[in-house]
Amino acid sequence: MPTVTWISPKGPTYAREVEVGDSLMDAAVFGGISEVEGACGGCLSCATCHVYIDSAFADRFGPPEADELSMLEMVSAERRPESRLSCQLRMRQDLDGLVLHLPESQG
Ligand code: FES
Repeated sequence: MPTVTWISPKGPTYAREVEVGDSLMDAAVFGGISEVEGACGGCLSCATCHVYIDSAFADRFGPPEADELSMLEMVSAERRPESRLSCQLRMRQDLDGLVLHLPESQG
């Protein structure tokens, strides 16, 4: 199973195996990564699943859809070019080794 690593600016690093097809928000929440809240359950209404895609993987994802772009306006932490809402990102086998950086806070 492919692996994803989430890196918190507060220090902790979390590596989890993620099922292909799972959302990266679900993988974090069910993987016990408390820095990802996912308050709306993935229906694009909370922006508490904000992550920054590591630059090494920036070209591995398509651009955000319009709805995600709208919600990215609502993130509480700094919005950066690599900001994404992880409920909109699905795991793929070719993303094995993916690194996601966590924001300072989600709310
Ligand atoms: Fe609410 Fe992603 S979980 S917008």
